[in-house]
Amino acid sequence: RHQFGFQHNHQRHQETFSEHQFPIQPLDRFKVKCAPFRQPVEIGSFSYDEKRKFLMDDSQLKYYFPPDLTKPNNLSVNYEKYISRDLTVDEHVDALLDALICIRDSEQQQQQQQQQQAAVSVTQADFICYRGLLTKIMCTPYARNEPWEMGATLYKGSIYIEEHVSAERRENAAGSNDRHKLMSYWGYRFETICNISKPVSELRRIRTRKRGAPSTSSSSLTDSNNPPNKAAKLEGGDEQQQQQRQRQREEEADETKEQKEEKDKVDELAEIADQIDLEDPELTGRLDGVVDTNLQYCTVARTKIGKNSIIMGAEVDCTSEPKKAPPHNPLSNYIELKTSRVISSAREQNSFERHKLLKFWAQSFLPGIPTIIVGFRDDDGNVVTVETFKTMEIPRLVRGKEGTWDTTICINFLDAVLNFLRKQITVDDPEVSYTIRWAPPYKAIEVEYMGKGTSFLTERFLNSRNK
Ligand code: A3P
Ligand code: MG
Ligand code: MG
Repeated sequence: RHQFGFQHNHQRHQETFSEHQFPIQPLDRFKVKCAPFRQPVEIGSFSYDEKRKFLMDDSQLKYYFPPDLTKPNNLSVNYEKYISRDLTVDEHVDALLDALICIRDSEQQQQQQQQQQAAVSVTQADFICYRGLLTKIMCTPYARNEPWEMGATLYKGSIYIEEHVSAERRENAAGSNDRHKLMSYWGYRFETICNISKPVSELRRIRTRKRGAPSTSSSSLTDSNNPPNKAAKLEGGDEQQQQQRQRQREEEADETKEQKEEKDKVDELAEIADQIDLEDPELTGRLDGVVDTNLQYCTVARTKIGKNSIIMGAEVDCTSEPKKAPPHNPLSNYIELKTSRVISSAREQNSFERHKLLKFWAQSFLPGIPTIIVGFRDDDGNVVTVETFKTMEIPRLVRGKEGTWDTTICINFLDAVLNFLRKQITVDDPEVSYTIRWAPPYKAIEVEYMGKGTSFLTERFLNSRNK
């Protein structure tokens, strides 16, 4: 078994590492049985409003609605109206801490009401952080020259971690580079053309009202009042048409029930899009289709990798279905939206699989988001195609391909880094922090003790825990 804080004498890696370093090589040591990973569960959710105010509610949860690709879809539309969140403000993990305060409060209220004994809180975990930094750690074996830095504080047994955003990255994101800023806008604009603020069941009701027919609360995918008009097109005709009909029937018989449902759903959505003005601010929740990155919806998910329980905050782009009461897990309906350049050669396909799919997979795997919808766009920002990826199927798409990545290595690497951090971060003090660093020459992840007065936990959070 591999030991840390050792003299490392692998033929190709003859460096000596201190006990505060976690060497990345040899990666082969992670190619063992995959560490157990628990299905993430949502323990809470929160939103930010247009003033970037924290709200412990689902007001910014959006619903997926497929973009109409028969119309031009240039992602630069409304760029001049773009409202960007103030990226010079470092928000630390304040909102996640606020959410944990709320979750804990309602937990305690419930226990009091039901006169239960105080149990271990769901807000207690080995690690508490945003999903983004876990994605970074998990991709580190394959993204070797992308530096990152984090701050960590151990408090009442939980390690809280925040990302340190470098001044350079902050500036870049804020738009020092025009092309960079535009391309970043494209990602957000794609979200706005895929999202509406009402679920499909609500659209069905609006459509029915518009037709003057009685409102139905049917939530099935196919509306029996309104069968897909596919069948109507097939009526009547000569012998040739009859043969065609027969072929069509045979083809349809080959379809699985799922495929049929999916097709019917697509037909229905297309019909809804024809009959309802989806750009109506009532439906989009956005005036004039303005992109405002202050608005956000985040889930707080709980999971476990190996021996470490983890609570992570993660921004969620949209959902396919309205939330249901527990024990239903809302995470299973969440959708991650992504944009990527259209692929026009085998080389580009390979690069997409090696780099982009790794990040897409890691980002959605961690909070258990099962679906990733990618808008492929050209160099001018026109969406050309939209493709759905199932997070769990991505590893199979890349398996065995040249120069590719391995999910077992990613998960075991993350597990090993978390264990390493547990051993390093030992002073339980809310005023103390440690810095975790991955930087040139990219040989090892490093932990440095920063001493008192460096922590990022909010006073509000500490007060709530000292009550
Ligand atoms: P794409 O990922 O489609 O490029 P996310 O996909 O994580 O939900 O993020 C939404 C969008 O925010 C991204 O869309 C991208 O446009 C933008 N974005 C995310 N991280 C960024 C960063 N570090 N710098 C600039 N833009 C970023
Ligand atoms: Mg997002
Ligand atoms: Mg996204």
